[in-house]
Amino acid sequence: MNAQKPVIAIDGPAGAGKSTIAKLVAGKLGYIYIDTGAMYRSVAWRFLQSGEAFSPELAEKLARSMVITFKPEASVNRVFVDGTEVTDAIRSPEVTAIVSKVSAVGGVREEMVNQQRRMGEAGGVVMDGRDIGTVVFPHAQVKIFLTASVKERAMRRYKEMLAKGEQVDLAELEQQIAERDRQDSEREISPLKKADDAEFLDTSDMTIDEVAEHILQKVQEK
Ligand code: DC
Repeated sequence: MNAQKPVIAIDGPAGAGKSTIAKLVAGKLGYIYIDTGAMYRSVAWRFLQSGEAFSPELAEKLARSMVITFKPEASVNRVFVDGTEVTDAIRSPEVTAIVSKVSAVGGVREEMVNQQRRMGEAGGVVMDGRDIGTVVFPHAQVKIFLTASVKERAMRRYKEMLAKGEQVDLAELEQQIAERDRQDSEREISPLKKADDAEFLDTSDMTIDEVAEHILQKVQEK
């Protein structure tokens, strides 16, 4: 019998609710939540800090030399790069605009995947991203591919931003999400793709609690 706690891999496109669900499931199980998108965003943030023009070589060099750490708190998963808090900075439009490019660099991915494997090797983690069930943990005990229609994802993001008092255009959001889907799915290395043995879960008509409950059920069945 394998006594190690499972690895739960949650993949899917931008805005499908992965981080909300992963955080909730991790909290209920007492597992560690690892937001791998935040790691790629941290590399993109570090790149912008350098002030240099984009180059894959520099992106790789920075990725390999920086230390990313998470400090989970009740309401927020705080992120640090070399000791500087970047929790909010990595969600800026500037970072969002460049992160697909940074995450398409082979050396950046290799470094992040190695770090993610180390973080998850003891089990008891919920990891969300794009390639967790396909590349990082192909033997994860539970694999979910979470998605929702572009319209629904844009609407969720729209409401989130309105609640924060930010002005946004819904049609523009839809366009951005569709474009990011395209970039993430069409990149050469580790494109966004459902693992053959992952469960496809369309959450367009599901509540957050329903989705979390469904995943917890699957964990119990293991
Ligand atoms: O989930 P997110 O929007 O924070 O992810 C930011 C970017 O990082 C997104 O463009 C896809 C990329 N990413 C990736 O390539 N692989 C992962 N495991 C997680 C995110």
